[in-house]
Amino acid sequence: MKAKMTVNKAFTVSKIDPRIYGSFVEHMGRCIYTGIYEPGHPATDNEGFRNDVKELVKDLKIPFIRYPGGNFVSGYNWEDGIGPKEDRPKRLDLAWRTVESNQVGIHEFINWCKEVGAEANMAINLGTRGIDAARNIVEYCNHPGGTYWSDLRRKNGAEEPFKIKTWCLGNEMDGPWQIGMKTAEEYGRLAAEAAKVMKLVDSNIELVACGSSSQFMNTFAEWEATILEHTYPHVEYISLHSYYGNQKNDLPSYLAKSMDMDDFIKSVTAICDYIKAKQRSKKTLYLAFDEWNVWYHSNEKDSKNEPWQYAPPILEDIYNFEDALLVGCLLITLLKNCDRVKIACMAQLVNVIGPIMTEAGGEAWRQTIYWPLMQAAHFGHGTVLLSTVDVPTYDIEGRNGVPYIESIAIHNEEKEEIVILAVNRSADENMELSLDLQGFELGDVIECKEMHGHDIKLANTKENGQPVAPVDGKLPTISGNSLSATLAPLSWNMIRVTVRA
Ligand code: AHR
Repeated sequence: MKAKMTVNKAFTVSKIDPRIYGSFVEHMGRCIYTGIYEPGHPATDNEGFRNDVKELVKDLKIPFIRYPGGNFVSGYNWEDGIGPKEDRPKRLDLAWRTVESNQVGIHEFINWCKEVGAEANMAINLGTRGIDAARNIVEYCNHPGGTYWSDLRRKNGAEEPFKIKTWCLGNEMDGPWQIGMKTAEEYGRLAAEAAKVMKLVDSNIELVACGSSSQFMNTFAEWEATILEHTYPHVEYISLHSYYGNQKNDLPSYLAKSMDMDDFIKSVTAICDYIKAKQRSKKTLYLAFDEWNVWYHSNEKDSKNEPWQYAPPILEDIYNFEDALLVGCLLITLLKNCDRVKIACMAQLVNVIGPIMTEAGGEAWRQTIYWPLMQAAHFGHGTVLLSTVDVPTYDIEGRNGVPYIESIAIHNEEKEEIVILAVNRSADENMELSLDLQGFELGDVIECKEMHGHDIKLANTKENGQPVAPVDGKLPTISGNSLSATLAPLSWNMIRVTVRA
């Protein structure tokens, strides 16, 4: 099969905001406890955080991490996680029906973020709490000192403010499962008032309003329009959440699910712009896709969980090769929309639907989905080029015209290189990709990495030595400003080429 991709140096989508490679750490399951934090584990630092996990997170180059939930945040009292650890209360976490020890709280999380080189993104509780707790947490975290909450932070060991820039106004408040679920009117009013006081405390912060918890909610679209009527002047972003799965074991349809993500992004963008027009606003709202991933493998097992355990194994999806291919398509989709999607968080980071798995007291390793995220986070920087792709398509139930490749070209001006990310969705044919890079003077191929040739159900486990990982691929050829590459059937590919400035 053949594909012809054309880009031009002058026609761009946007600069990539590095926060598009964000992640998410929630107090749930084993994400924190026995994930990133495990006192007594042979590889811990002085604070009880696992060094082996820290290394894997650093290798991933995650720039931005959302915390502490997720559904958990809607019942969370942030004050439970500050002060001497021995005085912190154990609480029932009603979101996941587990026991929360509060041994990790804001201070520990911020210190850990510094160590892994990521910016912290904090969510506030708009389920059981409201404006008062919202203003207090911003004062505690961001006010320099001389007031009750800021001095308490200093007493608790952090002389300097945390300067948390981005805050989420609650989580999935449209969901019937959410503690303190609200109607769009109720949430819109509360979020607007919380936003107002939070910005009175610190005018430098940026805020994310809660969009629908998926594009398949009955209230989707109406929810966005209503909550934005209230919050548009007060916030910078609206959130999108979406999880995907191959429940029907139908690979062509599964790999096309990134097109659902694209539709979702386009719809939310349209709603934002409708409210912008309606309110005669000069401000453009951006999108924070702050929960996305594959999530379905663990559903059956989780339905049998006993309540009130400490750090039980929940949502422990074991990812296989086809999941890595879809994650590659989803990453490319986020990048194609980087003019509006400024933040995106793969949910979550460790054990809970995570690219990293750990064994309590044992090893930590990379799941299959770790690799496309890692390669994009390392090399997908600069400007996304607008592309046209002429490629055969296939039809699935409910959608016609799924292109056999998902691809993107990025111009990294700083490093003077072009980075191509591409997935070949065809199960049986090579894709002969010819890429016309108009306006560029191409140099040499720096590297060509690919993941392909595995059984689509092959997972990376502790026992099998994690076979799904990128390897060197056949180097593309360059002629003038055109590049020719062969993309193997069912493959994830990353190609880097030098360009002259
Ligand atoms: O990431 C797991 C859960 O999915 C989050 O807690 C929630 O926000 C979403 O429903």
